[in-house]
Amino acid sequence: MTFKEQIQEGIPSVLPQPKPYELDINHAPKRKEILTAEEKKLALRNALRYFEPKDHKELIKEFSDELETYGRIYMYRLRPDYKMYARPIDEYPGKSDQAKAIMLMIQNNLDYAVAQHPHELITYGGNGAVFQNWAQYRLTMKYLSEMTEEQTLTMYSGHPMGLFPSHKEAPRVVVTNGMMIPNYSKPDDWEKFNALGVSQYGQMTAGSYMYIGPQGIVHGTTITVLNGGRKIAKNGEGLEGKVFVTSGLGGMSGAQPKAGNIAGCITVCAEVNPKAVHTRHSQGWVDEVMTDLPSLVERVKKAKAAKEVVSIAYQGNVVDVWEEFDKQNIYIDLGSDQTSLHNPWAGGYYPVGISLEEANQLMADNPELFKDKVQETLRRHAAAVNKHTAKGTYFFDYGNAFLLEASRAGADIMAADGINFKYPSYVQDIMGPMCFDYGFGPFRWVCASGKPEDLAKTDAIAAAVLEEMAKTAPVEIKQQMQDNIKWIQGAQENKLVVGSQARILYADAQGRINIAEAFNKAIANGEIGLVVLGRDHHDVSGTDSPYRETSNIYDGSRFTADMAIHNVIGDSFRGATWVSIHNGGGVGWGEVINGGFGMVLDGSKEASRRLESMLFWDVNNGISRRSWARNEEAIFAIKRAMENQPLLKVTLPNIVDDALLG
Ligand SMILES: NC(=O)c1ccc[n+]([C@@H]2O[C@H](COP(=O)([O-])OP(=O)(O)OC[C@H]3O[C@@H](n4cnc5c(N)ncnc54)[C@H](O)[C@@H]3O)[C@@H](O)[C@H]2O)c1
Repeated sequence: MTFKEQIQEGIPSVLPQPKPYELDINHAPKRKEILTAEEKKLALRNALRYFEPKDHKELIKEFSDELETYGRIYMYRLRPDYKMYARPIDEYPGKSDQAKAIMLMIQNNLDYAVAQHPHELITYGGNGAVFQNWAQYRLTMKYLSEMTEEQTLTMYSGHPMGLFPSHKEAPRVVVTNGMMIPNYSKPDDWEKFNALGVSQYGQMTAGSYMYIGPQGIVHGTTITVLNGGRKIAKNGEGLEGKVFVTSGLGGMSGAQPKAGNIAGCITVCAEVNPKAVHTRHSQGWVDEVMTDLPSLVERVKKAKAAKEVVSIAYQGNVVDVWEEFDKQNIYIDLGSDQTSLHNPWAGGYYPVGISLEEANQLMADNPELFKDKVQETLRRHAAAVNKHTAKGTYFFDYGNAFLLEASRAGADIMAADGINFKYPSYVQDIMGPMCFDYGFGPFRWVCASGKPEDLAKTDAIAAAVLEEMAKTAPVEIKQQMQDNIKWIQGAQENKLVVGSQARILYADAQGRINIAEAFNKAIANGEIGLVVLGRDHHDVSGTDSPYRETSNIYDGSRFTADMAIHNVIGDSFRGATWVSIHNGGGVGWGEVINGGFGMVLDGSKEASRRLESMLFWDVNNGISRRSWARNEEAIFAIKRAMENQPLLKVTLPNIVDDALLG
């Protein structure tokens, strides 16, 4: 059977042979045993809904084994035989280019070079799923290969509910992931409803088919370190000779040393797991490895004296680094942490003073003692950070729940008011005011032809558009524009593509519109093939997350999710090709609502109208909310948007004189 025929086949009427469990692939860990005997039957009944009754007997045993062994029913047998990667759009079967583009994006999220646990359909973050099982994948691809532009496919947490009649201007796909009745949104609820096969954790760009590999993280981290550097600059100087101490060389955290190098500082990144150190070192994401503290201290002194740009991995616990640098009087300019403290009791954060193996053993044998050790380490960690900040170090939380967990452990990190933390999060101090409030966020695109030449052409188009805009940009946003011009000019050289031909850059509403419009023209002129636009959910308007994306909202509304919901509804009727809304992503199930879109540009007049209408809304929705929360930068940005678009009329806040409040 050809690739096209296999896609069109969907769930085969004759079952394929069972597939062996391949050991050389990175697999998801066994999930928590959570279902009762009755619930396990329900999970099986649910899974068998995808198959004809003639196959049930054969599948019951297999699915029941999967549930017992892995805690989930993945239906490994249905994994397709063809190679999984984003093919050029013309290779997909179908009646709609929009639907074909979505197939391409789905396959990219499951590409072995891109996905974390490809056989379990997990793209990143340990549990960020595209589908819950392979039957859902097959059925979805079949629907996409059949649909016309008069239909919309509805996706319920990976399950394709079906094709419904709609119209040309409607989204081709509407995705929801993990949407729960609010009271059923505790971590164990995810375990249970995912094991039952009725819900999934879509992370941000996993379940929305918009992941583009590590490139997005490198860019975001570079922007953060660069702007962190600007915050501490006394005379506008750069980061030369300055020291950035952090930890984690894992999935996202591994971008820190590379970003530190691009930003031009000395990065010291502690990592307890030698495998993670080796991976990042062998990939060239970190320059050097030190395994003992005295050598590390000497190396850093030398790097400081010579103002070297260098990244150093310290193989060991980050607490030891903070404590030793205090003893040895090594001044830390910038400090943060990217251990996985959103998951503190199951290997996200390792206690100091015991080996990795001992810690892993303790976690399984004596979880209570393990928890005590984690909390004791967090108290020591915070105490050491406090000593450095007293000397002048600028420390920020990197959205990994460090301050939250440290506070729960009783560490000294609360501010005098007893409500806030001593230190800001990277969104409160850096991303929020410098980027999101002005509308700058992680705009991205994928060249659907799969041709590197097309990506190079789009890079050049985007750079030209931004350079033109920078000439007249107001001083408030000149720096952001310059950073992104520099990024896009160096993007080819930095070789950031893994998987589809994708690019990210931070742009504001007008920047996104102008770039997209220029792409659409180039498509119409035959210079490039179709382009898929999108963005990370970690953006201006798409995400309500009180300790991350919306942590710099101070009017009390940061625990609401109206913005994210409005965003996805607004995108859907303004021309998005697909939209998605998720519970969970980055900071955990129940902790965030986030949404995104995909939009196919085909060079048509309709595409031009759609991009203008939708991108304008997609950014200005969040700016209006940030402005209503009295964020100065957002008030500036929304007033500017109203000047440029007379149809926009946003309610502006009046600022009360606090003296009147007593
Ligand atoms: N990079 C970003 O853009 C970004 C943005 C927001 C939030 N985050 C958060 O950062 C965290 C890290 O993400 P990830 O994908 O890299 O996770 P990960 O689990 O892949 O990596 C974390 C690493 O920290 C190491 N580690 C744990 N405890 C340690 C200790 N005490 N000392 C030294 N090393 C230790 C682990 O061995 C692991 O390799 C997550 O909580 C994520 O949500 C990252």
